[in-house]
Amino acid sequence: MLEFKPLAVRPKDVAASLAIVGVFEERMLTSAAAELDAASGGVLKRLMESGDLSGRVGTHSLLHQLPGLATPRVLVVGLGEQRKFDASRFLRATREAHKALKGLPVEQAASYLTEVDVPRQDMAWKLSQSALIADYAAYKYTATLKARPERVELREVQFSAGSYVGDALARASAIAAGVRLARELGNLPPNICNPAYLAEQAHELARRHPEISVQVLERAEMETLGMGALLAVSAGSDHPPKLIAMSYHGGSGAKPHVFVGKGITFDTGGIDIKPAAGMEEMKFDMCGAASVFGLMEAVARLKLPLHVVGIAPAVENMPDGRSYRPSDVVKTMAGHQVEILNTDAEGRLILCDALTWAQRFEPATLIDIATLTGACVVALGSHASGLMSRDDDLANELLAAGERSSDRAWRLPLWEDYQSQLDTGFADFANIGGKYAGAITAGCFLSRFTEGQRWAHLDIAGSAWDAGRKGTATGRPVAMLVEWLLGQP
Ligand code: BES
Ligand code: MN
Ligand code: ZN
Repeated sequence: MLEFKPLAVRPKDVAASLAIVGVFEERMLTSAAAELDAASGGVLKRLMESGDLSGRVGTHSLLHQLPGLATPRVLVVGLGEQRKFDASRFLRATREAHKALKGLPVEQAASYLTEVDVPRQDMAWKLSQSALIADYAAYKYTATLKARPERVELREVQFSAGSYVGDALARASAIAAGVRLARELGNLPPNICNPAYLAEQAHELARRHPEISVQVLERAEMETLGMGALLAVSAGSDHPPKLIAMSYHGGSGAKPHVFVGKGITFDTGGIDIKPAAGMEEMKFDMCGAASVFGLMEAVARLKLPLHVVGIAPAVENMPDGRSYRPSDVVKTMAGHQVEILNTDAEGRLILCDALTWAQRFEPATLIDIATLTGACVVALGSHASGLMSRDDDLANELLAAGERSSDRAWRLPLWEDYQSQLDTGFADFANIGGKYAGAITAGCFLSRFTEGQRWAHLDIAGSAWDAGRKGTATGRPVAMLVEWLLGQP
């Protein structure tokens, strides 16, 4: 974890081993850059005139040993045209700056980007976004790598905060810890991060935070409860399923906000097996569960005065002689008979029983988070999570929290019109809805298990990890959900 501190010294006196300042296009210096320029005898202006510093957004230059400065390195970040500067360019430039820090022998960095005015955003927003971006860039997966010789690593970032005295940096630090936990669990390989491992991590979380208590349901209890859908998915795996519940009591007697995260620790597709190419990415199919762990970590660190319950059904989906099959009919805990038409639509099957069980906690709100459908990735790509809800107020609150935290969602409809796609002659309904609107019909399936609840569904199939060979988990939508909880009375 990085440490974050407010920064009071001016750029020429900063002691950190690197200072970050911004410049606009058209040879416009920010005030911090102008101060460095003056102290160093006009180096920055000369570099702008020669064209070495363009100021274009997305660019950066690292300058060493400028005369007249206490710090040995200055990272100059392009902010684009000043009149076009806005929140999204602020975020882009900040990301660029912190990516550029990777690999440098710098322990302590001081950023003056937070001094730049961003239309419609205040200092608290700039600080918390910057801190989250810095920690995101600094995270490195090492769990299964050979130990490397010690290198100098970034451990502290200071942000110029003007006269601001609030707790934005402390809050961001708590959220960053949650994002990190979600990312780390997501990135771990499925031979380590199996259902039992996730259950153990829940106990670990409770050991760190005494306000959290943990309950893990084993297969026998699931059988007693009649969780036929969850158990069908787990039937082909040698790893017994775990239904993990983490309860945080922040001194409020109110009904809890309950989060349910899909925890398929590996999704082969089962008997409807997936193609080999890209199957390794299905280790990320527990990122919904990972985000629930991350959320609990952040909530406990923030000491929110709320009651929050995180539930993670943890199951592996494997092909085997004991596997469930296409055309099987399974009975859910809610009593609905479901015809399995595709064993690869397993997420909704573990979630439906977990959502039914979750209602024992009498949720004030019930939110599920799942890497549920490839169709959602086709619809929205990686920039937005898919949001579905019958509750307009809850949906709007979550959309707004996503905007504020730069962890956005976009709403898809859950109209009745789509429900008939789940019709079948062999059960109450099927587990898939055909070729079209796959993200929505998955939401429709879940909606049948959340009647009467203040419920929302987040499909994070596109947002939970960066696709591709070196892709890593993003920790989304931890930031959005924490932001939403921070707004709860
Ligand atoms: N975990 C997958 C969804 C997924 C696919 C997430 C690709 C991210 C990238 C889910 O269990 C699944 O396999 N869904 C199927 C549903 C289909 C059989 C109706 C899908 O999306 O193809
Ligand atoms: Mn699947
Ligand atoms: Zn899946």
